[in-house]
Amino acid sequence: MDAAERIERALEGALARTAGVGAPPRLVAAFRHAVFPGGARIRPQLALAVAAACGDRNPALADAAAASIELLHCASLVHDDLPCFDDADTRRGRPSVHRAFGEPLAVLAGDGLIVLAFETVVLAGARKPGLMASLLSVVARAAGAPNGIVAGQAWESEPEISLAAYQQAKTGALFAAATVAGATAAGVPGESWRMVGECLGEAFQVADDLLDAFASAADVGKPVGRDAALGRPNAVLQLGPLGARERFEELVAESVASVPDCPGRDALRAQIAARAARLLPKEAALSVA
Ligand code: IPE
Ligand code: IPE
Ligand code: MG
Ligand code: MG
Repeated sequence: MDAAERIERALEGALARTAGVGAPPRLVAAFRHAVFPGGARIRPQLALAVAAACGDRNPALADAAAASIELLHCASLVHDDLPCFDDADTRRGRPSVHRAFGEPLAVLAGDGLIVLAFETVVLAGARKPGLMASLLSVVARAAGAPNGIVAGQAWESEPEISLAAYQQAKTGALFAAATVAGATAAGVPGESWRMVGECLGEAFQVADDLLDAFASAADVGKPVGRDAALGRPNAVLQLGPLGARERFEELVAESVASVPDCPGRDALRAQIAARAARLLPKEAALSVA
């Protein structure tokens, strides 16, 4: 089974648990709307790629960790789109969850997906309690404060914001969790993998800032121009379009260079570089200077 199938199957298994007897049907539908069809699934792909590079000794645990991180990501998008954050009507080319189901169910669907992320790791880890505990702590660190996605979104309510701290928390944290959890699930000490994910995640957010400034809504499946409209700190504003592109390249190179020694190191380095190269269109559309 390839990585994409493993991810969809693990997510389907997790979502099926929310649809048990007695579940409110519209909440179940809102969960599904948030998770299927997915976007690029880049975080769980990264987790499984790292697990594979480290020998993938516990594939079921790797699948659960990958799904757990994607569930947190989907939850973060549901909340991010709410009127009290970015007030976005579309996501992945469809109505955002609050546009389709209303704000109360969007708040609850995000909450429920976060809980489901933790439950997914617990249920997969019963036979490996040590690894399960490590994975839970990786996931918790990425989700909460001081440096997880809760903290990342909270920076928007501060009078002064460091761009790097904001982007590392709102985006880098989940990418870091993906690399650390992938290695941990394979039975390898995970912390030496944190830098790979942190740098790639920050690069990803710089790319998203460039797309927000210069791509079309049709291309990205979500509203564009939101960073400027909402006054969000972003790489294009702080560094200019060319500076942002340079920062993106630097961060990708740093991520690739940080891949620790492991059986699949060279292949993984090449995979990360190739995937990153697809994040930004090469053509003049983004080289607006
Ligand atoms: C969007 O992430 C949010 C950011 C961190 C910029 P993705 O671009 O990975 O979203 P999907 O899951 O592919 O839709
Ligand atoms: C992405 O924030 C990070 C989270 C949702 C936590 P953005 O607001 O920059 O992402 P998009 O552009 O809406 O996907
Ligand atoms: Mg936002
Ligand atoms: Mg947003």
